[in-house]
Amino acid sequence: MSRYYLTTSIPYSSGEPHVGHSFEMIAGDAMARYQRLRGRDVYFLGGLDENSQRVSQAASAAGREPQAYADQIATRFQAAWDCVDVVFDDFVRTTEPRHLDAVRAFYQRAFENGDIYKGRYEGWYCGRCEAFYGVDELADERCPVHNARPEWVAEDNYFFALSRYEERLLELYEQRPDFVAPVSRRNEMLGFLRQGLTDFSISRAGKRWGIPLPNDPDHVIYVWFDALINYITGVGFGQPDPGGLFARYWPADAHVVGKDIVRFHAVYWPAMLMAAGLELPRQIVVHGWVSFAGQELSQSGGHVVRPAEVVERFGADALRYFLLREVAFERDGDFTWEGVARRYRDDLGNDLGNLVLRSTSMLGRYFGGVLPEPGEPTVLESELRAAEQTAWERAAHHFDAWRFHLALAAIWQYVTAANQYIDRTEPWKLARGGAGRGRLATVLASVLDTLPRIATMVRPVTPRAADAIEAHVGAAQAAVWGAEASALTPGQRVPGGPPIFPRLDA
Ligand code: MSP
Repeated sequence: MSRYYLTTSIPYSSGEPHVGHSFEMIAGDAMARYQRLRGRDVYFLGGLDENSQRVSQAASAAGREPQAYADQIATRFQAAWDCVDVVFDDFVRTTEPRHLDAVRAFYQRAFENGDIYKGRYEGWYCGRCEAFYGVDELADERCPVHNARPEWVAEDNYFFALSRYEERLLELYEQRPDFVAPVSRRNEMLGFLRQGLTDFSISRAGKRWGIPLPNDPDHVIYVWFDALINYITGVGFGQPDPGGLFARYWPADAHVVGKDIVRFHAVYWPAMLMAAGLELPRQIVVHGWVSFAGQELSQSGGHVVRPAEVVERFGADALRYFLLREVAFERDGDFTWEGVARRYRDDLGNDLGNLVLRSTSMLGRYFGGVLPEPGEPTVLESELRAAEQTAWERAAHHFDAWRFHLALAAIWQYVTAANQYIDRTEPWKLARGGAGRGRLATVLASVLDTLPRIATMVRPVTPRAADAIEAHVGAAQAAVWGAEASALTPGQRVPGGPPIFPRLDA
């Protein structure tokens, strides 16, 4: 069985998780579920970036010890992912002892390779990005990402010899054109590489919060150097008996990250792995940002829409569906309450929910809820079959490329085809005329047959609806993607059930 190792980035553990963060986690979770349906041995990793200086700052502002504060935030983030049905196979908090072990082992390897040295750092540092900037990178003396004033830092630091890897990184980009996706982000990184790389500081002096440097405990490891390593901590790197996980899953198939942190993943991380003599991930997959009604979502006050608020009103599937359908993955998108309400009512309620409700209730009315044997198919049934085939193919094609919005559009074409099939065949008329009984059986058998197939197609994005559809038609959960697995048997009972996406009050 081929394996698939997927990671999300690890958010800073301060403030509140918002729907912007949930976009990445939901996309990762949908991909993990999709790859499982494709029969792969999937490992899906999440976590939290706890050694950041902003954690110790937020803790002291809250009058707490950093660890106690981080523990509390971790509960909050984990609850947020639970409530949107994001299920990680493992979750790395960077204050865990196993991560400390991994960072030490990694540091040692890079050190022995001669890539870590002590030097003097002077320059601009943005506390919000936790990143150093050259004067030419600042916009109007402000951080280009956060528009915040950076602080001037001058101290003796340890450096990572990034510049030594310039050639090898350029070769990597040459040899593996899809190392960074989409191609616009790859080009952005190529541009950055071609400007020439400078070594970066990997320690901060005189800080108490963070992982002490193994060879100089007066310094803590710079948070990005530490945080990136979570991707191997999660598969047992640095443990005496990693349970075979590292050999089984590393290198990762995909690191999913937001557009603001590409450089760390697409330049720093591969160079660090080269220094440590470890294999490189297959791909860095970059997504855009979600705003709230046109304004930036913020972790610290301002516009915070918590995933739980959306789930309380519309359910987890609705948030998952909305984000993945509405936001083209690699571009920016906007969250609005009206938008969620519209997708809920139109796509989920009227298209999908109604299809399930009307077909199961007609079967109940005309055949006592027992699936009849279909007769000879006509051109209408062949067309419905063709629509199904197209949906499997297109949806797979787009899921494979992280184009969730197009995969969902393809699946919804099939849902629409099934609804149109009912409108055209008019089973209620067939039920009135005695001659139509055989034809009625064919029609209802055909339309019911679409439901478990649709359930499998939507399962990556709306797992609850998939379960509900299968329960309504009395089908066992299909464990694999594709037409063969999702068939009903004539004579079986179709219990039906309440609306899957009931109408909500305004
Ligand atoms: N701690 C670092 C990541 C370290 S990975 C080794 C970090 N944390 S973060 O909390 O600022 O961001 C976490 C992820 O959420 C990033 O991929 C970021 O792009 C993403 N998002 C933060 N706000 C977002 C939106 N409004 N919309 C979509 N994604 C957003 O960076």
